[in-house]
Amino acid sequence: MCGIVGYIGHQPAWPIVFQGLQRLEYRGYDSAGIAIVDAEGELQLRKQVGKVASLLPAPQTGFPQGRIGLGHTRWATHGRPTVANAHPHTDCHGRVAVVHNGIVENFMELKRGLQARGHRFTSETDTETIAHLLEEGLDQGLAFPDAFRKLGGLLRGSQAIAAIMIGERRICAMRLGHAGGIVAAHKDGQVIVGSDLPALTALLDQDGSSGPDSSSPVRAAFLEAGEMLVAAPEGLTFQDLEGRALNKVSRTVFPEEVQFDRSGHRHFMLKEIMEEPAAVASALRERVDFERGRVVLPDFPITPRDIKQLRRVVLIGCGTSLHAAQIGRHLVERLAGLPAEAESASEFRYRRAYIDAQTLVVAVGQSGETADTVAAMHEVKDRGGRLIAICNQSGSQATRVAEGSLLMRSGAEIGVASSKTFIASLTILNLLAVYLGQVRGALSEADAARQVEDLARLPNLIGDVLADTAGYQRLARRLSDYHNFLFLGRGMNAPIALEGALKLKEISYIHAEGYPAGEMKHGPIALIDRTLATVALAPRDSLYEKMVNNIKEVKARDGLVLAVLTQDDEELAGQVDEVLWIPPAPEQLTPLLTTIPLQLLAYHIAVQRGCDVDQPRNLAKSVTVE
Ligand code: AGP
Repeated sequence: MCGIVGYIGHQPAWPIVFQGLQRLEYRGYDSAGIAIVDAEGELQLRKQVGKVASLLPAPQTGFPQGRIGLGHTRWATHGRPTVANAHPHTDCHGRVAVVHNGIVENFMELKRGLQARGHRFTSETDTETIAHLLEEGLDQGLAFPDAFRKLGGLLRGSQAIAAIMIGERRICAMRLGHAGGIVAAHKDGQVIVGSDLPALTALLDQDGSSGPDSSSPVRAAFLEAGEMLVAAPEGLTFQDLEGRALNKVSRTVFPEEVQFDRSGHRHFMLKEIMEEPAAVASALRERVDFERGRVVLPDFPITPRDIKQLRRVVLIGCGTSLHAAQIGRHLVERLAGLPAEAESASEFRYRRAYIDAQTLVVAVGQSGETADTVAAMHEVKDRGGRLIAICNQSGSQATRVAEGSLLMRSGAEIGVASSKTFIASLTILNLLAVYLGQVRGALSEADAARQVEDLARLPNLIGDVLADTAGYQRLARRLSDYHNFLFLGRGMNAPIALEGALKLKEISYIHAEGYPAGEMKHGPIALIDRTLATVALAPRDSLYEKMVNNIKEVKARDGLVLAVLTQDDEELAGQVDEVLWIPPAPEQLTPLLTTIPLQLLAYHIAVQRGCDVDQPRNLAKSVTVE
């Protein structure tokens, strides 16, 4: 959460920092700010409440001129989204500008001490303490990088920090703990420091030519916990918190990793839903041997021998990725014949979960930066468990902590609400479960071949669901005034009920509850009346009859029922108020199909209600605070 961009080089810094912030806006968008060290060596600060575009200067004013700049797009933790609380924050003398992502856990104690020593605070943020602590180091005569490094010993909590200072042609940045990354790239006498790869966009766009193909890769280095960097036009240097120089290995970042456009769609979310067949195909690519009817995972980090020794699988994630993990649990039990559990990473990390070398932990996450997931992964590693990540962002923290990763390869997902990456996660979890089943002998050759055949049909099946979206606008008009929704599903579709409810609440702000349908009679049934809309997932699977009973129970109490049904189920269709259809499919694949109508439903209701679909209030794409 929160986006950081710093630039130093021979070009005006403002447009580059501004562009980087716009690219990072998915990380937070309640306020934004940019600090520039101008030609006179003064610090020029611009801050606004709202999205990054609010920083655009009036044409007659222009932007501050200077070749060093630091910007921030905020997701508020400490203090409301106000101009005063927006970053960058400065010290008492206006000498340094600091931006920050994460939480200073001991900030109250630090702030009290700083105030007692005469520092004046102008915001409610924890970040401002960092600016004043830096000021104290400088007042003690320390050089800028040394004063900055000293912060590492003073601040508690996981965070990323960057700072600039008047009179200095350097940017300092630091990463403490596992939340909040810092990436930096140097090219042609210019450096960009950022919280995430899209910050580097300007360097990727500059290869000396022009036009749409004018981008070229750059080499980028990522800070680990307890590391800092000093960026100057001459290059990047790295050190640990003791000041020992570090040799960091950089990796190539390709333009397609950070580029995005809406391809004619009104919102990124709709574009990303429409990309789901391609996301599945991309997740399957080179992982399935269709001729031999087998799943092949070429870089799987665990040997067949060790896979045979596994005794259990634990799947972790947060939000939508937790729902994917919950379906993964069903798949592993069903196809790999292994005991499996799924748990929120934010709970898993706070209990003494039993983990050993025969436990495989699968961390699911689009961003690979979710603080709780990454922290849980470190726990697993410390306790000697086997650890893999299912992730969309190569080079992210999750991929670096895991022994190996199964990358989604879905392309950038910009809509804050996950859509195509959920489908990609489910595809990979299917692959993983089949692979484990093959290696362990839980699946016969014929069973594995059947699974592979089914997976090969997935892009077309999803394409069928997406082919007919005509009815959603009418449906959205009918349903958008309901204030409460209940989503019900059973078995592998129970997590989809949770996901459907999450999608609706996060982008349309309508209260929605997701429940395993068997739980309905244990409480939620009390909610049912004419004012509650129930979305029932009732594909023709082994639990179909039980879902039919649940639907009848809702109808008997005058509740409106929108059902997701398998094509041609006219009988049940005649008993409900609205129907969304999916094509017939093998049971283990139905969650990938039932999800899509729920994503489209949430999307169209949110549009109907005039909500900001791609950047819903209070949310951020990467949740890098705990
Ligand atoms: C999904 O629509 C949400 N934006 C959110 O629940 C998200 O899935 C969660 O924050 C986890 O993110 P990750 O997949 O990047 O770990």
